[in-house]
Amino acid sequence: MTRLSPLLALSAALYSAPTASLPGHPTPNQPSLTWNLLATNTTAQFRGLAPVSQTTAWLAGTNATVLRTTNSGATWSNISPTLSGENSTLIQFRDVEAFSATEAVILSIGEGNASRIYRTADAGLTWARTFVNNDPSAFYDCMAFENAKHGLAMSDPVQGKFRLLETWDAGATWALVSDKGMPAALTGEAGFAASGTCIEAAAGRWYIASGGADPGRVFRSHDGRHWKVANSSVPGSAAAGVFSVRFRDQKNGIAVGGDYEKPTGNTDNAVWSKDGGKTWLKAKTFPGGYRSGVSWVPGRGQVAVAVGTSGSDITYDGGRNWHAIGNGTFDAVECVSKGVCWASGSGGRVARLEL
Ligand SMILES: *[C@@H]1O[C@H](CO)[C@@H](O)[C@H](O)[C@H]1NC(C)=O
Ligand SMILES: *[C@@H]1O[C@H](CO)[C@@H](O)[C@H](O)[C@H]1NC(C)=O
Ligand SMILES: *[C@@H]1O[C@H](CO)[C@@H](O)[C@H](O)[C@H]1NC(C)=O
Ligand SMILES: *[C@@H]1O[C@H](CO)[C@@H](O)[C@H](O)[C@H]1NC(C)=O
Ligand SMILES: *[C@@H]1O[C@H](CO)[C@@H](O)[C@H](O)[C@H]1NC(C)=O
Ligand SMILES: *[C@@H]1O[C@H](CO)[C@@H](O)[C@H](O)[C@H]1NC(C)=O
Repeated sequence: MTRLSPLLALSAALYSAPTASLPGHPTPNQPSLTWNLLATNTTAQFRGLAPVSQTTAWLAGTNATVLRTTNSGATWSNISPTLSGENSTLIQFRDVEAFSATEAVILSIGEGNASRIYRTADAGLTWARTFVNNDPSAFYDCMAFENAKHGLAMSDPVQGKFRLLETWDAGATWALVSDKGMPAALTGEAGFAASGTCIEAAAGRWYIASGGADPGRVFRSHDGRHWKVANSSVPGSAAAGVFSVRFRDQKNGIAVGGDYEKPTGNTDNAVWSKDGGKTWLKAKTFPGGYRSGVSWVPGRGQVAVAVGTSGSDITYDGGRNWHAIGNGTFDAVECVSKGVCWASGSGGRVARLEL
């Protein structure tokens, strides 16, 4: 719960960070990467981002806003759920997982029944509310699916342990996972609902990124039920820790984060693992500031892209070294095949990058 109120309170300060303060570090291979900004005609903040291809992507954000494009972002349809009798200003979507151009699940955050999950199977024409939190001590942050049916949604610790909800039917029904196999959380430890990637499913494994306590940690599991945890070397505090963890196979992972109150803090904000998350090593050259999201570029080996409120960066060596990308202040990033990355953030900012 501690995770989100500060994010909201400080959003103004957080998003005023100048992009110009980050010098470019062009590499011989990629001289001038720049995000191509797309018009969404909205001011919502999109921390939820789910491209399903080079052309089709879903966005979920503040003011209960959900958008979808099927033409590479040239135009966006507003397919926000109808919240009859409720104030949509109070519903903030923070994550979306899309399985196709028609099927997706969205998660809203907040205390009590503001934490919810909705699902559509008709491209957003209709939405079914498939989960409403009724535990005052739970606060849901993010979701991940290992395939089009099986997913987990993660809440900040309840009675000292991260809480998980599980679905086996693409988000139509959800059930609490027993916390017996979950290690104890540290005092103050929580996830960051910043980019929908505080829980990750990859290559048959599951991961959770944490902060709020020192150090930021990464949990790992082979089945979503039995978990182990490792310290990262990303320092943690109420506003700091690991914000996003991604793996490209069962061994190689990257985790990014930092302190969202220090958007340009550029040390100890990115780590990498080559042993499935058992140990984490610091990058040699760090991203240019706090980073809330990271994504591997499918089919491009060790290439990954990270984004944050002070800029974005690319690595060509699995997270050992990072290089700045132009025009890139965002909250979330997701890359798909053919070297296409999508990014989204505050003020309706959405962009695409072709590598
Ligand atoms: C990048 O930012 C500069 C300065 O704000 C702007 O002039 C330019 O159009 C942007 N480029 C893209 C591709 O968005
Ligand atoms: C942008 O949104 C406004 C208000 O909803 C609408 O009137 C306008 O037509 C939209 N413009 C575009 C280009 O979609
Ligand atoms: C949410 O909607 C309200 C009312 O339309 C608007 O004033 C506000 O700017 C919107 N906020 C965001 C973050 O989109
Ligand atoms: C919705 O909530 C916002 C934020 O608390 C408030 O400013 C606005 O007046 C509310 N709108 C309605 C129709 O109650
Ligand atoms: C959420 O709680 C409020 C306040 O108790 C109530 O008015 C509202 O109907 C509830 N909404 C849902 C979806 O449970
Ligand atoms: C992880 O960090 C905690 C807190 O600093 C420390 O007590 C613990 O010994 C560390 N664990 C390992 C395996 O380094």
